[in-house]
Amino acid sequence: MTLPENRKHFEELIKKWIILEDSTIEASSDLIGNSTNPIVKAIIDLVKMDSQKHKRILETIRLSLDTAVTFSTDDLQVVGSFIEKHAAMEKNAVETAEQAVQMSSLPIPKFLLEQLLQDEKNHDAYMHELNEIKGYMAADT
Ligand SMILES: [Fe+2]
Ligand SMILES: [Fe+2]
Repeated sequence: MTLPENRKHFEELIKKWIILEDSTIEASSDLIGNSTNPIVKAIIDLVKMDSQKHKRILETIRLSLDTAVTFSTDDLQVVGSFIEKHAAMEKNAVETAEQAVQMSSLPIPKFLLEQLLQDEKNHDAYMHELNEIKGYMAADT
């Protein structure tokens, strides 16, 4: 990504991806109105919320490319205390989700809990990776 042409290509790819997420958000919003079933609505809404999250991530990636991002000592302290306070909660959430999955036999709760378990595992990994990237953030100060 050091060459300008690669960077341009990368930026276009992110832009295209944001448009895809926008399409999913829009299509989900339309579809939700077609059902009065609260479970059907929720299942569609979950995909919509994930797309909103993906869009937010992609916009953050864009922001990190566009501006000369630096992290102050205060910023690093906020990130550090977030990791410190939150890491144990995510680990606990993974264990709780694993127990809940094991206890479920009905298909819908099981399906949703399995999705949640994956999310909690991702949150746990996110905290670990964030801790590692803190070194990179500190190098900028
Ligand atoms: Fe997505
Ligand atoms: Fe979580």
